[in-house]
Amino acid sequence: MDTDERMNWEARYAQAPETSVEGAEPDRELLALLTEITRQDAPSDAGPAVRGAAARTAVDLGSGTGRNTRALVEAGLRTTAVDFSPTAIAALWKRALAEGWDRGLLGITGDLMEWMESTAEHYDLVVGAYLHGVDGALEGALRLLRPGGRLLWTTHAPESPHGPPPHVPRPDVDAVRAEAARVPGITVERLDRTGRGTHTVDIVLLARRG
Ligand SMILES: C[S@@+](CC[C@H](N)C(=O)[O-])C[C@H]1O[C@@H](n2cnc3c(N)ncnc32)[C@H](O)[C@@H]1O
Repeated sequence: MDTDERMNWEARYAQAPETSVEGAEPDRELLALLTEITRQDAPSDAGPAVRGAAARTAVDLGSGTGRNTRALVEAGLRTTAVDFSPTAIAALWKRALAEGWDRGLLGITGDLMEWMESTAEHYDLVVGAYLHGVDGALEGALRLLRPGGRLLWTTHAPESPHGPPPHVPRPDVDAVRAEAARVPGITVERLDRTGRGTHTVDIVLLARRG
């Protein structure tokens, strides 16, 4: 684990525990994917109560305070949130309990690489939003997928004005493609650059196992 990075993030959350550096709303690609998944899970005339009845599972890697975690839980997925900042996970739980999205939620405080190496679980949906500078994280995330499972991976592009500080490496599209290709049985459904407002350019990877 990169102890300096963990301390940097912990200091950031200690200053403003309820907030995310990426804003308050879930990522639009995640919302689109959840709409697709929950439609597949429920008959077309089913109401919201039965959506997600198949109890699909998800993991939000580097969840921070849970802006994407919340969307996953509210879509009916049994969701695990992993972050190495104790303050972020505590804030996530506080919000989940206060706002009523704690059902099926598991919060883990720990290094995501160590956790991925130790877990025997596989997931229907793996989300990694803006995890920079964690070597091998994308490969590890893809290996967490069940057959048929989907991964949504978003990073700030090298040319994006908004993003991590200069010392933190940012992969380009080719590097993301090369890392995904290291995992057998993965189909890339989408890999491109997309603008968000005037200050952000992201790389978005959507992939499926099997
Ligand atoms: C840019 S923030 C993104 C947070 C959240 N995914 C979002 O989009 O709102 C990156 C998050 O990853 C966490 N993180 C970075 N490296 C990590 C690691 N090795 N293990 C666990 N969490 C990590 C940080 O604590 C931070 O919460």
